[in-house]
Amino acid sequence: SEKIAVLTGGGDCPGLNAVIRAVVRSAHHKGLAVVGVRDGFKGAVEGDFFPLGLKDVSGLLPRGGTILGTTNRDNPFSYFIEENGKKVQKDCSGQILKNFSDRGIDSLIAIGGDGSLAIASQLTEQGLRVIGVPKTIDNDLRATDLTFGFQTAVETARDALDKLHTTAESHHRVMILEVMGRYAGWIALYAGIAGGADIILLPEIPYDLARVVQAIQDRVANHKKFSIIVAAEGARSQTGEMVIERRQEDRPDPIRLGGIGAKVAGDLESLIDLETRVTVLGHLQRGGSPNAFDRILATRYGAAAVQAVLEKKFNTMVALKGQEITTVPLKEAIRELKRVDADNQVLLAARQIGIKFGD
Ligand code: F6P
Repeated sequence: SEKIAVLTGGGDCPGLNAVIRAVVRSAHHKGLAVVGVRDGFKGAVEGDFFPLGLKDVSGLLPRGGTILGTTNRDNPFSYFIEENGKKVQKDCSGQILKNFSDRGIDSLIAIGGDGSLAIASQLTEQGLRVIGVPKTIDNDLRATDLTFGFQTAVETARDALDKLHTTAESHHRVMILEVMGRYAGWIALYAGIAGGADIILLPEIPYDLARVVQAIQDRVANHKKFSIIVAAEGARSQTGEMVIERRQEDRPDPIRLGGIGAKVAGDLESLIDLETRVTVLGHLQRGGSPNAFDRILATRYGAAAVQAVLEKKFNTMVALKGQEITTVPLKEAIRELKRVDADNQVLLAARQIGIKFGD
């Protein structure tokens, strides 16, 4: 019978397991066999496959992470291998095709963000038959209205903001919450609105520190001696660079410590009378159980991906457009990231109720 491989690539995200479950269950109902690929494209190159049946996905719906494992640094087109005791980079993409044909695998469902889907798209040029599933907490893929995992990440940040509010108010402090989003400020914008932030700093809107100070002081003048700032990790000032702090850059997996939150706090120190504290939410946003919305979206994507295999709509990505799940060419899916535009309605609503963006 027909055999599909499924892999998860790039940063993990709530709902990955829910997609895997939906793929296995739909495939089972249609008489297709599924094999899991361990650790994304690494397992694809190394032939690390295992059969996935109904029993393997039982109880998986609420579970965070991915039972397949993932990595975000194994690109088959420049793959690290050991040669004569030295690490060298080689194009190992051909090995993936060989592994697939050796095992009689007909197609691949690749669950990933822009990086993994770009690799998947490149593999289609070599003849691999691929269906992509859009995953990222950042929600920055242009070809779909929503990626799964985003809503859950927003919920986590919203919960943090609710908690920061009570302590900020008690202590008359400025609380800065740094959230993920290197290139796009969707999490910051949505969580900021849901969590009642006063100031939101986005990568798309470079801020002027004087305006941030003004916003805090206007609140003080209004008898509000506390303020809540949400900063996307990729936010930067009008004069400064992006400050995603990375230690040990020479390591293949640099330690992430956060950056912009601490920078803003340091810059505010001498300019305002209130104390400032910083919370870096970090990978809490990537972990844990997907919320109901993401479970449903992930389930729909998984089912749609198997349907696309059956209908031979290869080299596409399943996508949400309005209320409908459709397929879009994989090439289109990776063309450009989706950022918060100046005329975005959600952004405009936030401005209208008086949330400041530092511009
Ligand atoms: O793309 C998802 C994401 O969580 C980004 O928001 C963040 O910048 C990045 O991945 C962090 O990646 P890492 O897994 O390397 O810490």
